[in-house]
Amino acid sequence: MLLEANRQRLLRAMGLVPAVLAGGLAGCEVEADPVDAADFADQLATAETGVSQAPPPGVLTLNFQGPLLAGVWLNAQVTGADPGANVFLLASGTTGAGPCPAALNGVCVDLVAPKIVGTATANANGQAIVPFIMPHRVPEGAISYFQAAGTSPGAGDTSGVASAPVDYPPRDCGDLPWLRPSTVYTDYNFFACAAIPASGICPSYTQIGGQGANTLFTLNSGLPVNGGGGGWSVYLWCDETSVEDACCYGMEIGQWAIGRPFRVHGQARTAEGACTAGWAEGLPVDLRGLSRRERRRLTAAWTRSAQGEHASVAAFARFVLQLLQLGAPAELVADATAAMQDEIRHARVAFGIASAFAGELVGAGSLDTADALAATDLTAIVLDTVREGCVAETIAAAQAEVARDACVDPVIRDALSAIVADEQRHAELAWRFVRWALQVHPELAPAVAAAFSEGLEQPLVAVDPMAEVLRAHGQLCEAEMQAVAQRVHAEVVMPCARALLADQPVGVGLAA
Ligand SMILES: [Fe+2]
Ligand SMILES: [Fe+2]
Repeated sequence: MLLEANRQRLLRAMGLVPAVLAGGLAGCEVEADPVDAADFADQLATAETGVSQAPPPGVLTLNFQGPLLAGVWLNAQVTGADPGANVFLLASGTTGAGPCPAALNGVCVDLVAPKIVGTATANANGQAIVPFIMPHRVPEGAISYFQAAGTSPGAGDTSGVASAPVDYPPRDCGDLPWLRPSTVYTDYNFFACAAIPASGICPSYTQIGGQGANTLFTLNSGLPVNGGGGGWSVYLWCDETSVEDACCYGMEIGQWAIGRPFRVHGQARTAEGACTAGWAEGLPVDLRGLSRRERRRLTAAWTRSAQGEHASVAAFARFVLQLLQLGAPAELVADATAAMQDEIRHARVAFGIASAFAGELVGAGSLDTADALAATDLTAIVLDTVREGCVAETIAAAQAEVARDACVDPVIRDALSAIVADEQRHAELAWRFVRWALQVHPELAPAVAAAFSEGLEQPLVAVDPMAEVLRAHGQLCEAEMQAVAQRVHAEVVMPCARALLADQPVGVGLAA
């Protein structure tokens, strides 16, 4: 991201001579994990059949039924044992020349640091059903290796090593902290809970719309979702069924939306998600090597981006009406109209990427536009444009640029390249409009200066465990978004605001 280039472009758009300013932002240092194709092929092979088994070196055979679900009782079937023999099931995350656990009576296994997860006694036919539980805390997608060993007086046998990826039951939110004001600053995924409704039935997370998710966030954290020059987006991704005295959900808090927010009465609005065709462009996104949980997270992140792009269509539609109301020049109206088309394109691409990660159609439902034209006086329109255009869009364009540079998926990277170019133009349009408004109404200068001085939201400082997966697929984690926002605000927005207001008495009020 070239901060000086961004500054100069905005100054040129306003017809101001670019100032020479020091710039340069260190990129994000974390390297994205390349997709490991061999690993993926291995997972695929085992995922389709439940459990794969190498040719057994011993005489025992080991079989499982169904997927390797964590946290529930499963049965391993072992055959070929001596009648009455003790049969052990051993598990490990790694294969190799393993030890000979004392309990196995001198029998050695091919697992590193194996754990005995279950035992049973072989019946008269040499069969044993060994019940066991895959520990709930093993990460989803991790490969577990198993081996059976049978011991009887004076003899011992083993099976071949079997392996399978750990799967999670679909209605399990995993091991999340409870959402509290303090945890907002240390984590990204939480349980957020509300009282059980009078019906006695908890609505599913898919039935709770964006506004309901925002309410859950505020209820649990005590913090507003949107305010100032940006906002956190909140996404529900799971029902938690292990809690019996409340309705609880897996919640993710995430990035600011890319582009101009659609605010009404100070709250950003987005459309409800909808599983409908018509908004998702088919894109061949590379899904190899991603676990289900990673895909859910990427679905959430890209759905949020898509909803932000979709809301930007409404923001520019309103802006066109406001420009006409204020008697703005035709070129500004034309560029605002073109921006609507850009945002429709962005939304279709972002919904397409979200759909690819989701494995199903993700689209936009109804957008609440009631009261959208409530703020119709000149001052409100100009100040909204300062906050949503000059500040938010300038920052969003730079964030998209950093996200594009970090992205390893060529399809998403190309999509982000197009979005970056458009968003930079949209930011320029906002600055050009404010420049024009100040020329016509210089009395607005003090309010404009004050709006530029409002500063940014408090940054989040959490370390996102999925930061690398997000980066590789065109999304930055919240901490990176905030870091870019702070730099762009200080080194692009404020210098440009000072240049914009240089010929106004209030310009000196924007401290360098
Ligand atoms: Fe935009
Ligand atoms: Fe956009």
